[in-house]
Amino acid sequence: MSKVENDASTRDSFSVSESSQPSEGSQTGTAAAATDSIAAPAAVNVLELTAVGKTVQAASGDSLTLLNQVSLQVAQGTSLAIVGASGSGKSTLLGIMAGLDLPTSGAIQLLGYPLQQLDEDQRAAVRAEGVSFVFQNFQLLPGLTALENVMLPLEIRALAGNARAEARELLDSVGLSHRLDHYPSQLSGGEQQRVALARAFAGEPKILFADEPTGNLDRNTGKQVEDLLFAMNRERGTTLVLVTHDPQLADRCQRQVRMTDGHLQDVSPADTVQEGS
Ligand SMILES: Nc1ncnc2c1ncn2[C@@H]1O[C@H](COP(=O)(O)OP(=O)(O)O)[C@@H](O)[C@H]1O
Ligand SMILES: [Mg+2]
Repeated sequence: MSKVENDASTRDSFSVSESSQPSEGSQTGTAAAATDSIAAPAAVNVLELTAVGKTVQAASGDSLTLLNQVSLQVAQGTSLAIVGASGSGKSTLLGIMAGLDLPTSGAIQLLGYPLQQLDEDQRAAVRAEGVSFVFQNFQLLPGLTALENVMLPLEIRALAGNARAEARELLDSVGLSHRLDHYPSQLSGGEQQRVALARAFAGEPKILFADEPTGNLDRNTGKQVEDLLFAMNRERGTTLVLVTHDPQLADRCQRQVRMTDGHLQDVSPADTVQEGS
């Protein structure tokens, strides 16, 4: 009755409640030996793109290729900077990686899920499971206070039991415990971006995408935001995928890739050495 074609390695039913977390109590190091002989799970890469393309119809009717055969693998817990000239396709790529937009060709796996095979609701469920996004222009909801903006994703993810307390803690961790009841219009740009980070950190995302998160901030404020991102990466193992124009931010990432007219290439370490600086 069993069929050979039944391939256990394929996720044939969609489930976001499925979890492949390591067993608890394995931190001592001795217990880990038991799993050493087992092949590493596929989820080591939190993100995989295979020959991803995006072509759109321009207003003139011509088709415009925004992404061309982009392939990339991002391992869990690492940090990646995407650099490149304005208009080279960085935001398009980031939106597709995060499941906000779909490619027109190729395949993309996010947290192990094949995004191009999912409908919009299923992609939203994958994002809710462990994906956060930080935008250059903060995108806070203007009618909600700082606290309410951070509570929102916790409530959406049905983690509402302690949403208020957790949101307070998150705002405290970004240095904003004195601004809980301020509306976005009553906050500086740096404060708004810190609220956006607190919101992105809510629910402990496995991967955080940020599109020029320091682009609208002065150098010092930008540095604070940067430090918070890398603290999240170090302390919680959150994978960071950052689009940035800032070479100093890019240099803090473990790996840099450059977009050039829709093509993606690795930036070799030698290219990033800033002589005399
Ligand atoms: N839906 C679309 N239709 C037509 N052109 C688009 C569309 N989205 C983006 N573009 C164009 O594609 C190019 C890449 O955009 P984008 O990804 O925003 O670049 P970047 O973030 O690197 O500045 C730009 O020239 C932009 O104007
Ligand atoms: Mg952009």
